[in-house]
Amino acid sequence: MTQVFDVERVLAQLTLEEKASLTSGSDFWHTQGVERAGVPAVMVTDGPHGLRKQPEEADHLGLGNSVPATCFPTAAALGSSWDVELVTRVGEALGRETRANDVAVLLGPGVNIKRTPLCGRNFEYVSEDPVVAGELGTAIVRGIQSQGVGTSLKHFAANNQESDRMRVSAEVDERTLREIYLPAFERVVTNAQPWTVMCAYNKVNGTYASENHWLLTELLRDEWAFEGLVVSDWGAVHDRVPALAAGLDLQMPAAGPRPDEEVVAAVRDGSLDEAVLDVAARRVLGLIARSLPGLESDDSFDVDAHHELAREAAAAGSVLLKNDGGLLPLASTEGVAVIGEFARTPRYQGAGSSQVNPTRLDAPLDALRAAGELAFAPGFTIAGGPSGDDAALLAEAVDVARAADTVVAFLGLPGPDESEGYDRPRLGLPDNQVALLRAVAEVNPRVVVVLANGSAVSVTDWRDLAPAILETWLGGQAGGSAVAELLLGVRTPSGRLTETIPHRIEDTPAFGNFPGEAGVVRYGEGVLVGYRWYDTRAMDVAYPFGHGLSYTTFGYSDVAATADGTDVSVTATITNTGSVAGAEVVQVYVRDPQASVLRPTRELKAFAKVALEPGESRAVSFTLGARDLSYWHPGLHRWVVEGGEFVIEVAASSRDLRGSVSLQIEGEPLWGELTPMSTIEEWLAHPVGGPLLQAALVPPADMGPLDETMQAMIQQMPAKVIADFGLSGFDRETLDTLVAKVAAG
Ligand code: BGC
Repeated sequence: MTQVFDVERVLAQLTLEEKASLTSGSDFWHTQGVERAGVPAVMVTDGPHGLRKQPEEADHLGLGNSVPATCFPTAAALGSSWDVELVTRVGEALGRETRANDVAVLLGPGVNIKRTPLCGRNFEYVSEDPVVAGELGTAIVRGIQSQGVGTSLKHFAANNQESDRMRVSAEVDERTLREIYLPAFERVVTNAQPWTVMCAYNKVNGTYASENHWLLTELLRDEWAFEGLVVSDWGAVHDRVPALAAGLDLQMPAAGPRPDEEVVAAVRDGSLDEAVLDVAARRVLGLIARSLPGLESDDSFDVDAHHELAREAAAAGSVLLKNDGGLLPLASTEGVAVIGEFARTPRYQGAGSSQVNPTRLDAPLDALRAAGELAFAPGFTIAGGPSGDDAALLAEAVDVARAADTVVAFLGLPGPDESEGYDRPRLGLPDNQVALLRAVAEVNPRVVVVLANGSAVSVTDWRDLAPAILETWLGGQAGGSAVAELLLGVRTPSGRLTETIPHRIEDTPAFGNFPGEAGVVRYGEGVLVGYRWYDTRAMDVAYPFGHGLSYTTFGYSDVAATADGTDVSVTATITNTGSVAGAEVVQVYVRDPQASVLRPTRELKAFAKVALEPGESRAVSFTLGARDLSYWHPGLHRWVVEGGEFVIEVAASSRDLRGSVSLQIEGEPLWGELTPMSTIEEWLAHPVGGPLLQAALVPPADMGPLDETMQAMIQQMPAKVIADFGLSGFDRETLDTLVAKVAAG
């Protein structure tokens, strides 16, 4: 029977010391219990793509092994499915495993934006775009929490690199935060109310996220109405007293008696209001209360069914980057040579706190061999090995390739390249793998490259050697069998890029600013992140955001958009024009060609994944609102729709536009307050101030007409400077009178 746990009754019984103790963990994974008052300790654990629960007797440093759990595809792979329904089902399965293991909260998902492909932890994040990250983050939270267990939305906020992550200050302007780095969190919080939000290690504009009142209280609570609990990242709290005052509720993991004592002392000497401590303690008790029904249940989960689901998700998240001459799918395994150590030693997840101990593991080589005999040569050592080893392996692989009809080469990043805690050393594949590919392609041009990596790798130097490239990311424990099904056409690829694949690291938006120096990383590229950067700067990329091929083709027709005020309805009809079943990801972008701030050339605002049988058509529709047309006004500190032309683009990628509609949208008046330092241009644009200034600013009689250059110069001058010149009676007194008149309306 479900225990009744009355939060208010329990809170009223607790001593000051007990309340302080509730605001930190009791060990690495548990909250603090209070036996006297019947408060149990509950367990939280990683996250995000599988359960990393350490057995009770484990080291409690969080480093040792964990119980077997399904290793689902990492967020990089899952996100590339763009499939809300599928991601919800994966969430449900994660929730079932969490519940069956008596864990209250699964520490995920991560919705930080992929600012640079070099972030060591990108495999745990969904996208370079906030709408994709927010929509799929919402889906996974809904799925997990539908099982009566909680999630932890992380890492809030601006944790976009691992270099110096525990100290670095992310220096990000307000507009960039609002438009790029915060909306995914906002979407998940407002749509799915995660039980917890995890604050990041880093500082945001100089203040640790754990002590950032603006972030944890003004934004999260006051604006977004977050109802759950704020937990720290593990070790992110340096002083619990200001952290509680800023809005943190729970410091993890246990930090010894000192922080509790400091909280008690701060309440006693009046520097921390006891009511603030009560709020945090109440939220911890609230978390325990909502966890108890799940913890008391006696559930289990179906290991086979979850493995199947992991396979479906891995297939859906794989992206067919190119397929010249329809080299894929393979008709059979006959005449196929498999090359690459990753075929038998798959890379399927990243390193760090998200590392899952899988219930089983499918190697691509085994899965392909289950379909028929084929030749194999490892071709390289994953570690790069002594050159002698690699030379012999390469020679063997070339022989195998020469004798084959088609070669499938499994390439990717070595495990140590991608981990929590540090960033990637390079954008490219290791030299030994590229050398192998070159040698193989020389003897056999029919090469399919299958990639395994957690974030974009550069393909520019070698992609011409391979007519087909399949990007599988880090696809989880069933990725090996999923890739076999894709190669053999049992399934049709339907993943799309959630991150641009650039040519060179020098092309990437954060290049030059990342990873910062002297404890500061400046987000100098502003809102131009990911495709917003490449498209706005009209740069060539290897593969654009949203790109992905299929074994079928899709036609777009009847693209239409209409506006009713700031509500925009978009419709299109999608047809499967090929001969096999497949799924298309329809993307809706907004352009605002006339704006008084720099706006990215296009911004994704909605998407839908549509599964179609050959010849089948389906109408899709989307509704956009004012927020989808807005930018964050840096002067007014709020979202604004600036009136004028907007272009709605329906597309198959950010570079494959299939239809566009131009709309006139009535915006809101945008003039700000006029002051003596407002420019002549700003005065003239103002409906009240403009005519007043024009009447007052009469040129001296002896002054001839102003030429264009002069007029342009004057436009940029503050009215006060003109007044100080003392021309024709337009002096400071006159200007002050105008300012007062404008203020009075
Ligand atoms: C990671 C978190 C993780 C926590 C607990 C931290 O180092 O940043 O994502 O949930 O450890 O393992």
